[in-house]
Amino acid sequence: MSLDDATFAGAPLGLAGSAPYPTEALRPWVGRAFFLPCDDPWVRGAGDRDHAYLDGARTSWSDHPEYMDFLDPDSPVYDLKRAEADLYLHHWGAHRDATTVLDVGCGVGRFATRFLDRGATVYGVDPDLESLRRLAWHAPDRPGRLDLSWSSAHHLPEVEVELALAVEVLCYVPDAEGALAHLATRVRPGGTVLLSVESRWGWASSPDAPAGAIEAALQEEGVIDLPGDRWVRLYDEPRIRALIEGAGLELVELIASHWIPDGPLEGCAPLDLSLEELVALEERCRLHPIWGPMHRLWLVEARRPT
Ligand SMILES: C[S@@+](CC[C@H](N)C(=O)[O-])C[C@H]1O[C@@H](n2cnc3c(N)ncnc32)[C@H](O)[C@@H]1O
Repeated sequence: MSLDDATFAGAPLGLAGSAPYPTEALRPWVGRAFFLPCDDPWVRGAGDRDHAYLDGARTSWSDHPEYMDFLDPDSPVYDLKRAEADLYLHHWGAHRDATTVLDVGCGVGRFATRFLDRGATVYGVDPDLESLRRLAWHAPDRPGRLDLSWSSAHHLPEVEVELALAVEVLCYVPDAEGALAHLATRVRPGGTVLLSVESRWGWASSPDAPAGAIEAALQEEGVIDLPGDRWVRLYDEPRIRALIEGAGLELVELIASHWIPDGPLEGCAPLDLSLEELVALEERCRLHPIWGPMHRLWLVEARRPT
């Protein structure tokens, strides 16, 4: 399904044009809770480890919507999330001009909007319908085109793109390898996959580390399993290499990142760092004998073989 099938109060939206839509077509629906039929009935489920992230998101939309829609300049984490996106795109700058992008687990559109800004055609997929609505609301005025699917990483729209993203997604998906292998089928041969996952050690001393996860911090398995709260697989380098290889992709680059934003050193860094200052500090962390392994995220660039 796509925005072609979206409805409001049971009636089609009647968007101007056809999917993927110029973002301007979405303007009449800004702030309105349109409905999108789901592609994967799994998105309606709840209560097990596969749905732990979604269960948490549903609660957060009702308790703390201002943290969920961080593209709203009034969000308390607007600046933090923007700084993080700038840091990601600093590392992934070679792919900024991709013209067709599949953003799996796109959320409210932290990256989708950046690619729309550069005129790309973006296909956003997420199992959280509320996030997809926010992305649609943030889209107008951006030069690209957009389509949305309410679905999971295991059921993706039939597209072929030059760039696929899965940013901070696969660590919440127990069958990450199956999801990544499916995602790879949507990338043209020779095309690129950019993804990130939580890293093994940095999460435990990060500002949002979950209470009660001390066992996960100390054991070898590297899985945070707090029923009713969250399920996260933490990655070290061998596990990432196995994930990429298992999905039939070639690893191009693996970058340790995020010691400062959302990382263990966030609390002691100045609040108003420029991107240049942030990149320089992160580089010093990367080379540091103690802080080096304590980064929060791995940034991964992979390629679909030709
Ligand atoms: C931490 S957020 C990241 C959002 C966005 N990629 C970003 O970087 O801002 C994780 C996202 O993954 C989505 N997600 C969770 N389980 C998923 C699944 N099985 N398939 C696809 N997306 C999933 C969530 O709904 C959420 O939007």
